[in-house]
Amino acid sequence: MVILVGGVMGELKRIGVLTSGGDAPGMNACIRAVVRVACNSGIEVIGIQNGYKGLLEGKVSRVIQPDVSNILTEGGTYLGTARCKEMMEEEGIERAVEQCKKYGIEALVVIGGDGSFQGAQKISRSGINVVGIPGTIDMDIACTEYTIGFDTAVNTAMEAIDKIKDTSSSHQRVSVVEVMGRNAGYIALWAGISSGADEIIIPEGDEVTEDELIDRILSNRRKGKNHNIIINAEGIGNSNALAKNIEAKTGIETRATILGYMQRGGSPTCKDRYNASLMGAMAVNTLAKGEGNCVIALQHGRLVTIPMEEALAMQKDFPKDELALSFKLSI
Ligand code: ADP
Ligand code: F6P
Repeated sequence: MVILVGGVMGELKRIGVLTSGGDAPGMNACIRAVVRVACNSGIEVIGIQNGYKGLLEGKVSRVIQPDVSNILTEGGTYLGTARCKEMMEEEGIERAVEQCKKYGIEALVVIGGDGSFQGAQKISRSGINVVGIPGTIDMDIACTEYTIGFDTAVNTAMEAIDKIKDTSSSHQRVSVVEVMGRNAGYIALWAGISSGADEIIIPEGDEVTEDELIDRILSNRRKGKNHNIIINAEGIGNSNALAKNIEAKTGIETRATILGYMQRGGSPTCKDRYNASLMGAMAVNTLAKGEGNCVIALQHGRLVTIPMEEALAMQKDFPKDELALSFKLSI
């Protein structure tokens, strides 16, 4: 059930769209869908540059169908993104609402993560209808099984780890590979399982001491493994120090690689283009019906709308059993 917060079908004239927080491959596919579905339904679209920051600064302009040509295949976000501290204060929210009114933005599509949705929810209290679309490579939004950008990012990480594995096994080394995810271990989990990592160390996991880790590396070596891949999430960090300590305590050559921002860029996968397009279209159709204050989510393989308040209150249950599996699968 979606909460009605204003507007009736057929009345919507103008919507705004912004991307906020970390960019994610597929955001452009989503913007394109929002613009084209809205324009083709007689709804004007205002593109807001650089997230809430651009809204507060008045960096807005009308966007029409041809403006979003050729962005479907591109990573990043055509609108730009930013973080905006002012939105954490009441004055920032008031100013955002004033700006929406000034530019005739009757409803807003916000593509971003939980933080961006918090800002959207506060704007919605003024009667401006908002729809959140999950866009983050971290996949850490509780109400949905899918977030825009995760698939591309995790494939980028997996391919990079595969390459590291080639050289790691040739030199019989231990490789510590740090992947993105400050507070979330989904990239680490998926990239780790799919590249045959020995260990996956993530913020949501039980603490693994260095000695336990080393015991397990040595145990795998005794079972015949000639190299080891340890995936370390950004949120745990210290990959260089970890590599040094492993080498010092085992005598096995160990190298650290920090994959970094390459995981956030690149042309989106088919899955990211497809889901992002469908989510963008659904957001516009939801607003056109006069509905809003919700998040578009993938649940049990179907796109649904979840009331924003409910979506923000949900907690994501990390699949710890899958984490434990990586060790059993590694030899
Ligand atoms: P994400 O949307 O990916 O979770 P952030 O947490 O960095 O990324 O949030 C992006 C932006 O959303 C912030 O810079 C801020 O402008 C806005 N935001 C985040 N949290 C809140 C909040 N509690 N209230 C209002 N706005 C918020
Ligand atoms: O987009 C998600 C993410 O990549 C997280 O994994 C990371 O913690 C954060 O963004 C870092 O973003 P930035 O360095 O741009 O603040």
